[in-house]
Amino acid sequence: MDLVEYRDGVLHCEGVFLLKLAKRVKTPCYVYSASALTQNFQAFDTAMAQVPHLVCFAVKANANLSVLKLLAELGAGADVVSGGELFKALKAGIPASKIIYSGVGKTKEEIAYALKAGILMFNVESEAELHAICSQAKRLKKRAPISFRVNPDVDPQTHPYISTGLKKNKFGLPVEKAMELYEQAALWPEVELKGIDCHIGSQLTSLQPFLDAIDRLLFMLKRLHEKGISLQYVDVGGGLGIRYKDETPPTPQAYGAAICEKLASTGLTVIIEPGRAICGNAGGLLTKVIYVKDTGEKRFYIVDAAMNDLIRPSLYQAYHEIVPVRLPKTKKLVSANVVGPICESGDFLAKDRELPNLKAGDLLLVKSAGAYGFTMSSNYNARPRAAEVLIKDDGFQVVRKRETYSRLIQDERMA
Ligand code: LLP
Repeated sequence: MDLVEYRDGVLHCEGVFLLKLAKRVKTPCYVYSASALTQNFQAFDTAMAQVPHLVCFAVKANANLSVLKLLAELGAGADVVSGGELFKALKAGIPASKIIYSGVGKTKEEIAYALKAGILMFNVESEAELHAICSQAKRLKKRAPISFRVNPDVDPQTHPYISTGLKKNKFGLPVEKAMELYEQAALWPEVELKGIDCHIGSQLTSLQPFLDAIDRLLFMLKRLHEKGISLQYVDVGGGLGIRYKDETPPTPQAYGAAICEKLASTGLTVIIEPGRAICGNAGGLLTKVIYVKDTGEKRFYIVDAAMNDLIRPSLYQAYHEIVPVRLPKTKKLVSANVVGPICESGDFLAKDRELPNLKAGDLLLVKSAGAYGFTMSSNYNARPRAAEVLIKDDGFQVVRKRETYSRLIQDERMA
């Protein structure tokens, strides 16, 4: 589903004109569509319906409490990677029994917090972490539910910064090491072996790498079974890509069907951890042109959103479609760089982009920014972070207010 459409020449989302919204909330601001989030979540949930399953939303993609609450109400679980994400997921009403905890560097405080909260399981990424979990479980007189995250050594064919399932990456355990740890941990009273897990990368646009990784897991499950170790869960991670420009990723339906076909015969509960594919195209970043600058060489649209608001173009050379909120009178396009006010040449949202002839005050929507947009934002250049707005039931609500200058200094002390 497309987030927005033009009505009377003005961009419009679920009954809300973005001009009006921007006037009220000001820019830059993130907008999320409740109905797009709902549709995307349900597409995964329905696609997995043939098997017992749990869709654990990857909170790192969008951790806004209202977004998490909406997903909680639809029955989502959560994949968290920090104590802070666990805190937010619980606050938003996602039950601990549907929360899994991934990540290579869980601290003992975070482990204790998750054990006390009663999460579904830890995805354990190293032997050292296994020992840390055991000692916290012993101390708290609890049994820690765990899965091992296996590194299946599969190339996800995506940007190197977001590929995680290759031997050279820091994530997961090599297959043989994981086998060894399963056998050891099976004898320990302080852990409960619940499942097996992998996550090979993000923004994958074909199914094959997922299927290759699942084959490795299936092979391991067979070997574990032969050793008398039986599990309840198989977690295949997240990573399904979305269309930013002209990519043609598999649909959640095709993805779910392929996974179910591979895993149905195991009888295990299948966990998936989609992030981007649920919220990426359900959100955008509204921004306003501050100045138009022609250097003779190049035209710059200097806008009020910057790399601190959306770092993906600077960090991954990511493409985000940018559209004017009001359709221009002529179809004539000019090539321009869309840049922010930050003092870095790397501060851009788009380069050499064909855009209409804009003037100061014109509004733009940076599309596909609902995932890894706000969550990766910062206060660089002492810029207050943008507001977040949820569009729902033909209206909208500010679900995170724009940061103020006083908030910028509230935790600092002048020594
Ligand atoms: N599960 C685990 C263990 C993960 O590490 C990730 C993403 C996901 C699930 C969700 O992946 P998704 O379905 O969203 O692809 N900042 C980057 C993306 C980093 C992804 C990190 N891990 C970006 O803006 O493209």
